[in-house]
Formats: sequence, structure tokens, C-alpha cells
Amino acid sequence: MNRTMKVAAVLGVAVWMSAMASAQPAGVQIKATAPTKAAGAAVQAAVLTIDAAKAGAKVSPTLYGLMTEEINYSYEGGLYGELVQDRTFLNMRDTANWIPVEQGAARGTLAQDRTTGPSKALPASLKIMVEQADAKDTYGLRNGGWWGVPVRGNTTYTGSVWAKGDAAAVGGAAVRVSLIADDSGKVLASYLLPALTTDWKQYNFTMKTGAIAKVTAANQILLSVERPGTVWVQQLSVFPPTYKNRVNGNRVDLMELLAGMHPAFLRFPGGNYLEGQTIADRFDWKKTIGPLVDRPGHASPWRYHSTDGLGLLEFLEWCEDLKMQPVLAVYAGYSLGGEHVAPGPDLEPYVKDALDEIEYVTGDVTTKWGAERAKDGHPAAFPLTYVEIGNEDWFDRSQSYDGRFTQFYKAIKAKYPALQLISTSNSRGNVVKSVTPDLIDDHYYRRAEEFFRDVHHYDKADRTGPKIFVGEWATREGMPTTNFGAALGDAAWMTGMERNSDLIAIASYAPLLVNVDPNGMQWQSNLIGYDALRSYGSPSYYAQAMFAGHIGTEIVAAELEGAGDRLFYSVTKDAAKGVVYLKLVNASSAAQELKITLDGAKTVKATAKLVRLSAGSTAATNTINDPKRVVPVESTVTGVAKTFTRTAPGYSIEVYEIGVQ
Ligand code: AHR
Repeated sequence: MNRTMKVAAVLGVAVWMSAMASAQPAGVQIKATAPTKAAGAAVQAAVLTIDAAKAGAKVSPTLYGLMTEEINYSYEGGLYGELVQDRTFLNMRDTANWIPVEQGAARGTLAQDRTTGPSKALPASLKIMVEQADAKDTYGLRNGGWWGVPVRGNTTYTGSVWAKGDAAAVGGAAVRVSLIADDSGKVLASYLLPALTTDWKQYNFTMKTGAIAKVTAANQILLSVERPGTVWVQQLSVFPPTYKNRVNGNRVDLMELLAGMHPAFLRFPGGNYLEGQTIADRFDWKKTIGPLVDRPGHASPWRYHSTDGLGLLEFLEWCEDLKMQPVLAVYAGYSLGGEHVAPGPDLEPYVKDALDEIEYVTGDVTTKWGAERAKDGHPAAFPLTYVEIGNEDWFDRSQSYDGRFTQFYKAIKAKYPALQLISTSNSRGNVVKSVTPDLIDDHYYRRAEEFFRDVHHYDKADRTGPKIFVGEWATREGMPTTNFGAALGDAAWMTGMERNSDLIAIASYAPLLVNVDPNGMQWQSNLIGYDALRSYGSPSYYAQAMFAGHIGTEIVAAELEGAGDRLFYSVTKDAAKGVVYLKLVNASSAAQELKITLDGAKTVKATAKLVRLSAGSTAATNTINDPKRVVPVESTVTGVAKTFTRTAPGYSIEVYEIGVQ
């Protein structure tokens, strides 16, 4: 996508905001119900001949993965479990994140204090000057979270805050953190910090809710002071239970949705987020590790601040939790606004940073950065195969990518010869000529029609050069998450990628996540939507889950005749499991009858598993209030044989799992 298109994508503002009332948890649920009816009358039978015996090229076992960056409030306000928005009190003047609260006769004032903070990384703080307050009439401020604070019953919330007080404030317990229901003002959970000291200190706490009749996000986090004096606070954090109970971890429902995609890898941290708008705002990994109080945070190119609470180690632990391998993108000296670092001595510190980063990921505890990772709580090294150098460097007008890539390539290969290095420039420009990258990263943001026309893109591509990483791709139809028409485009494109997965080693859709609050979206078409409380997968999400969940190990040769230009297919098999996976995508409104022949099979099991995703129209979609309108339906089909006939309903995506010997 070019820069103009990028801007257009960012500016389109959603009209999708219908009421966000009913709470209904979303998830990957394959229902066992009868197949849906065909959307139109079947056209003349087509013939699909599958050569089930012939051993084909290997399917890349890592074909399907995830691409992620801080966009659309993907982490803060999304996957990262933090409930407090603006926990470092940066935006108090510009936003309504923090609102002063005076109860009864309490009186006080708030100010940002740039002269004191708990660390070099966080040198400022919020100063709360309380003239009058007691345990009943408190003075403080409240936070509305990421457009809501979800509070569940009988649940333990984990918090922390840095604080200190003046002589008046430290005379007794003074500061309380509470979860408050918006409508009733009821205190749902609360913790009173012990008496502060006059030095900065971190207070860790838990608070537990009791029974709650209705789970909503209409709550707030209140920081209140119960005695006169001056109190300084910084980094107030509150977490709900997280996935696998990780400290500083991720939201459970979103991790479960991601697990449902069966991802083999995670490409991080971008995307534009890697580059930053300027060099100063790049993803500077060394500032994203260690205690949270030592992370200064930085501006995301998607126009909001990141605390870097989800930093390098958290990305790696996310990989570990979902059994994904990292595809590590390292900053390569080019930022979105056009700044670049010239190859040569100026670039050396950035090359060194990348080497250090790889050591942090893969080094054992005897290495400098492996020891640092152990100090951060993870002694075991992480596996690493792929390192991507930069992002979309075809945009670099200085044409310095060949030199920059080559410098990184030589240094990384010298120390880590086994690593596979990915170039981000391709036929769009700045092609690397001085060395041969192991992989080239291609990006496709398209309409469904474009994908339909281009499903044979890689069929005749050169197999002797670098492998392909389709590092970002998506059918951009529907917002904030894509609709069924987009899922058809995606599925058609996936049949092409799968048939060519001897060449395409890895592929990842983008963007992955979007907070559907009106404040949340910067990019219009996304895979998974959520608000503070709920989440759901788009039809495109389910199409990917279906493909990745039935991947196979070998590509099986097949020929389709007489089907028109709206029927797409891919056939793979897993000999060890004795199954053939047949994927059919009917992007026409008319049903398509198919005579399927499995040549070379000794026996074919008479029943097969069928997973079908279908809808009556391309506009059909899932939303935060209607999350399960388009979901896969699983059934058992009978009458399967060496030759059998099936009908692909209009507008359908199907995966057959056929037992074959
Ligand atoms: O996926 C959104 C953006 O699209 C990515 O940050 C960038 O790499 C591409 O232009």
C-alpha cells in the first residue's frame, strides 16, 4: 500500500458504532449443525480431479502466522491486560482519562509535577494536593479505562502504584484504589495502601470483588486520598486475571481467539510501529525491557502513546504461550517520515542493537543479553529462525536499503549463520542486489475481486531465488472488521498461497486487532474486534482458522475443469494421518456442483468431515453486538468415494477432511 493509500485508510472514520449494549462472550465455536442451503441454483457440474497418490511439494508447516503491531489500540486498550488508560499521567490535560473527584466536603487540586518521579525513565508524576479529606469525604481522581473498565464478580484484580507523600500525608494510611460501578457508585473492590513514606516506593496489592449481578464495563478506577497533605503518584496499574496468569500479561478472551487461528509464528513489532514516525520514535527495544518503571514509553506512529508495557520480552512470552515462533523485525535505519541512517559507520550502532536484540532472544545466560533476559525473569532462550530487516523499505526515497540491508545481513550472518534474513523491499522498489536475502516480504492490501483475479500469482514464480514471506495481506472490505465478501477474497488468496507453499514459507494477515470503540480505530479493515468487555472474530478470522486448522503436509496436484472463474481450490494431504484436505471457495452467488475424483487412492472413507463457512450475501458480517452471525458449521458428509459428487453452495468456504489410504 502506498503512502497516500495509508493516509486514506487512516482517515476513514467508522459509522459502525451501533449500540454496544448486550454482553455476549465471543469465541471460536464450531457448531455441529446441518449444512446451510445453497444461495442459488446449481450451475453445470464441474470436474475436480485430485491425484491423491502423487507425492507433491511440502506444505510449509509455518505457512499461517500472525502479524502484530501497536495499531487500533491492539495492545494498550486491547491484548495487554492493563485496565488503566494513561497510567503514567501523561495526557491529563488533553483527554478525559483522569477526572478529579471531590466527595462531600473534600477539597484539593491536581498538577503534573515534572520535578519528581520514581525513575529516570519516569521523571514526572501527578501531584495531589489535598486541603481537606477524610475516609468518608475523599479527594482524588478517576479513570474510565479503555472506554470502559470490565469488572467481573468474585475476581481478584492485581494492582501497583508508585507513590510518596509530604510530612502531612505520611502520618497514616492515605491512598486508596477502588473499582466503582458507574450507575450506583458502589465500591466493587478496594485497597487501602499502608502509610506512605517521603521517598518513592512501589505498592503492590490485590483487591477482590464479591458477587456481581451483571458484568459490564460501566465502571471506573478511583484513586482517592483520605487525609490532608500532598501525595505524588506514578504508574497506577490494575490488571484482571490474565492468560496463563502471566504477571503483566494478556487478555484471556483475545489470546483464546488468537489460539483458535493455529498460528505458527508471530511477526512483531511491525509494521510502521517498528519504524516509528521518526528515528527517535522507532521501536527501541532496549527501552521496552526490564521493570515497568524503567520503560519510558514512546509515541506510536498510529498517533497515541505506548507505555511499552508490552515490550520485547512480553512479545516473546506471547509466542511461548501460543507455541508460535517469533519472526523478529529489527529496526533498520529508516523511519516513516522519511528519515534514514546512511549505511556505513552511522548505521553501526543500529546493527549492534539488532545483534544485541538477537542475543537477548536466543543467547544463553552466559551471554550479556541472555543474562539480561534471565534477570528479566526468563532464563530459557527462545527459538528464532527468521529476522526481518526493516519494514516496507521500498518507500525509502534515499534508496539506501541495499546498503543498509547488506550491512545488517553481513553482520547477522557472521554471528548467526543459521538465521533466515528477510528483505522488506521487493519488485515495488529498492530491490536488494548486493547480497541475496533468504526471503522477500510481499504485502497485499486488496479488494476481493483483485485477489480472485490474482490467485495464480505465485504459480509460475521463480523457485530458485529467495523464498517468499507474505508478511501483510488482507481483503479490505468491511469495517471495523471485514465482512463475508472479504473472507471470500481471503480464502481464494489462501488457496493460491497454500498451493504455492513450497515457495511461500510464511504468511500473515494484517492488521490483526481493533478496538471497536469510536476512538479505537486507525485502520479500517481488521480481523478481530473487541471493546473493553467483549471480542469477536470476523468472517475472515474464521476463514483463516479453518485453513490453518487443516493445513496438511504435502501439496496434492489437482485439476479443475468447467467451473467458471469464481471457484477456487487447494488440495493437501497428511499421509501420516491418512487424510486429504480439500478446500473449496465458491465466491459466486450460484451453487456449483462438482464431480470429485480421487485418483490413486486405494481406499476412500465413506464419511468425511466438512467445515463450512457461508452466508447469504457478501455484506454479511459479525459485530461486537452480533458476534456469531457468520461462523463455521461442522458436519459429517456421507457417500464419499473415489468418485463422488458434492455441491458447493453459493458464497461458501469449505474444508473437507477425507480419509484416504
Ligand atoms: O497493517 C497496517 C500497515 O500497513 C503496516 O503498519 C504497514 O507495514 C503497512 O503499510
